[in-house]
Amino acid sequence: MPTGCTSDFFIGPKKQNSEESFSYHIVLRLILIGYGVIGQGLSELLIARERELSSSYGLNPRVVGIADQRGALMDPRGINLPKALEAKRKKGSLSLSGSDYHKGMSATELLRSVEGEVVVEMTPTNLRDGQPGLLHIESALRSKMNVITANKGPLALAMPVLLESAKYHGVHLRFSGTVGGGTPILEFGKTCLNPDKITAIQGILNGTTNFILTRMEQDGKSFNESLQLAQELGYAETDPSLDIDGYDTAAKLVITANWLMAKRSTIKDVSITGIREITQKDIQRARKKGNAIRLVGTTEGDHLTVKPIEIAYTDPLCVKEALNGIRLISEFVGEEIVIGKGAGGLETASAILRDMLAIRERLVSG
Ligand code: HSE
Repeated sequence: MPTGCTSDFFIGPKKQNSEESFSYHIVLRLILIGYGVIGQGLSELLIARERELSSSYGLNPRVVGIADQRGALMDPRGINLPKALEAKRKKGSLSLSGSDYHKGMSATELLRSVEGEVVVEMTPTNLRDGQPGLLHIESALRSKMNVITANKGPLALAMPVLLESAKYHGVHLRFSGTVGGGTPILEFGKTCLNPDKITAIQGILNGTTNFILTRMEQDGKSFNESLQLAQELGYAETDPSLDIDGYDTAAKLVITANWLMAKRSTIKDVSITGIREITQKDIQRARKKGNAIRLVGTTEGDHLTVKPIEIAYTDPLCVKEALNGIRLISEFVGEEIVIGKGAGGLETASAILRDMLAIRERLVSG
């Protein structure tokens, strides 16, 4: 049995003579906290990919708890996900899914009431004090549960401490979905470039503002019309001022710089300007010069900055719509640019699945 696996969640080695590339099947019991666009997207993926996760990756996820704002569902044998998803989508409440439902039960109570290997924290980002996500993550780590989070608040405010806590408690903290949605920006910079060293980062890291700027530029839409569209498409934060005032980009810049450049920064270290003041006039003036206006997060030496700047249309970083793009400057290779969808429930959920596979690998390798 792999180190770190209890008999509860270890199924056993693969069948003899099997073509499978993995050595063990692992059951990971998941506790989902937050059941909005991302939580529901994750459920969809878990349902759709159940067989493939098992047969191709040796991973058998089992959701044993789900908490939303109204209460919590639990079932140690595994919640019926299609029913939970249907209840939430059609009636707005998990209570109608048929499993053991506790009205008013908080996420922290759920964490005390059900055992699991991985807590997936997906509550809305709060950049003022990180709550309630920060509390959820701290509680889970203290209880020696691995954590995957799509919530930027706790990391933007306390990433160095949280990483130390995970190390101290001997568990993993993964957060691929916090930067770039489903695009593996953090993994690319962290592992694919080894042993190169990243010296600077320049990124368009917020899908909502990029979408707004693109719509204003291409259709002449107003700022407010474009924002409304971004909200309808599910790109914007619950509080969209986090997007348009630059805080979301700043949070992602902090997470990226800490992870890829071994910084120990928080969002308080970032100088931030958003896009509220950008007018059609500014956009058209830039356009005449062959430039677009984009909200860009940059590391400049020890300084972290977020502000709207002009970028040439010919620069590959000048992405459109809700895309994200990041330019990494590294010592040996020079410049690399990663581009991909930066927001959306399913996209972010796919990053959570990647994190799950990474945790599985680490548990198997001990
Ligand atoms: N509101 C964020 C964005 C969602 O627009 O990029 C993804 O983090």
